[in-house]
Amino acid sequence: MAMAELIAARGISKAFPGVRALDQVDFVLRPGEVHALVGENGAGKSTLIKILMGVYRRDAGTLSIKGRDVHDFSPQAAQACGMAAVYQDISLARSLTVGENFFLGHMPTTGWGIVDWAKAYEQCGRLLGELGLDDIDPRATLSSLSVAKQEMVAIAKPVFENADILVFDEPTALLASEETEILFSIIRRLRDEGKGIVYISHRLEEIFAICDSVTVLKDGRHVRTMPVSDTNPDELVRLMVGRSMEDMYTIRRSPPGEVALKVEGLTREPRFRDIGFDVHHGEIFGLFGLVGSGRTEIMRAIFGADPVERGEIRLDGRPVRFTHPSQAIAAGIGFMSEDRKNQSIALPLSVRTNINLANYPAISPFGVVNRTAEREAARTYIDRLAIKTPSDAVAIRNLSGGNQQKVVLGKNLASKSRILVCDEPTIGVDVGAKSEIYKIFEKLTEEGVAILLVSSYLPEIMGLADRILVIYEGRQMGIVERSAFDEERLVRLASGLQA
Ligand SMILES: Nc1ncnc2c1ncn2[C@@H]1O[C@H](COP(=O)(O)OP(=O)(O)OP(=O)(O)O)[C@@H](O)[C@H]1O
Ligand SMILES: [Mg+2]
Repeated sequence: MAMAELIAARGISKAFPGVRALDQVDFVLRPGEVHALVGENGAGKSTLIKILMGVYRRDAGTLSIKGRDVHDFSPQAAQACGMAAVYQDISLARSLTVGENFFLGHMPTTGWGIVDWAKAYEQCGRLLGELGLDDIDPRATLSSLSVAKQEMVAIAKPVFENADILVFDEPTALLASEETEILFSIIRRLRDEGKGIVYISHRLEEIFAICDSVTVLKDGRHVRTMPVSDTNPDELVRLMVGRSMEDMYTIRRSPPGEVALKVEGLTREPRFRDIGFDVHHGEIFGLFGLVGSGRTEIMRAIFGADPVERGEIRLDGRPVRFTHPSQAIAAGIGFMSEDRKNQSIALPLSVRTNINLANYPAISPFGVVNRTAEREAARTYIDRLAIKTPSDAVAIRNLSGGNQQKVVLGKNLASKSRILVCDEPTIGVDVGAKSEIYKIFEKLTEEGVAILLVSSYLPEIMGLADRILVIYEGRQMGIVERSAFDEERLVRLASGLQA
């Protein structure tokens, strides 16, 4: 029997303390459809899919799955209906193997009820191979894999479970372009098998690459649902943020000043070797490479988070060698890590405290925190970055994913660094806030701040950087001047090929 609607949600509402996250939202998913869900940070996308998946209870509205009305829905009930979701935060068991994660709770057994490991790993390996992921060993512990590979395992798991309603919440945020292609081929295959896919992303080009229809949410309300072929990026942005936004990546360039940071022969085997570059005050210097190429490790070494084997680091001409990040912070370097959940923020603490985390020494004369300055800093960055939160006293863990990222950025801006290292600063951040962040970069460079921008997202790094250093497997492939920027050339270098 052909089914008209896999999911039919009508009039869904949901409130959290101080926030109306969803207000009478309708959403329909049909078989053989990839349905994009878009909207600004805090628009309600993740809340909606958590209601569809039985994770949150809805306050109002009706929900029917495959033609059957559901009332008291739960994650177990959703799974029994053939639904599976890959959430923004990878939710697999990191201490278990890939295979164990696939089979969690239903291991194949021999006739005697004993877990048949050989069979489990064989089945798991076969599917990974089929999906183009044959470089993932089913017997590897999840934590031994790169974040990107962990994400691919999370993406493969629902395919393995043969789910026919799949939800992906920002799956590409941590993926390199090669893995994104694999993800897209998996999604196309699922669609051709008649499954229904909900796809959330802040990268509009992805919506146009693989989605059939799109639903726009704004401030918890349904704005419009339409076929992707009937719209264009400009219109989508306008529906999401309520204004049009041209030339996102065009910023005013400042003439570069003196050398702020100089690195020579930086080596830490086997991660990277002989890295050398200089970043001028007022310059945005790009560091491009695939996820896992060593970019993050190089940044961590400069910052004192990891040891250095050989090489020199100079700040404004003075040789330095940090053994702890606090020394780098004291010397005026701000660091925005890509792994924000683990390194950059304190989830149980308030938005206000988090924004001020690196700022307290400056606003605490004689060790007493100046509460007015603390409040002002929080207010400034909540406004400038349009952080969506009921108040600055709310715990940051209650903010949407993208708004947490904005708080991290606010923290670094509040600390008034002379050199700002930004590792993937706009992952998960909506288009409006992205352009706001770029404007802040523009202003900072005008003030002479040197920005070291680490990114695997080409439109961003090509749009913003003055020069780009390309890394491949810990090797420096070259420094490309802005006038010679070319997508193909950069991708070739990042893949270890000469341009
Ligand atoms: N557990 C929670 N407690 C309190 N408020 C919450 C909770 N979860 C979400 N919210 C609030 O509900 C609103 C919608 O959040 P949601 O996570 O659905 O946004 P989103 O569209 O997924 O945004 P993003 O693009 O940043 O991921 C936000 O204002 C958020 O702060
Ligand atoms: Mg979300």
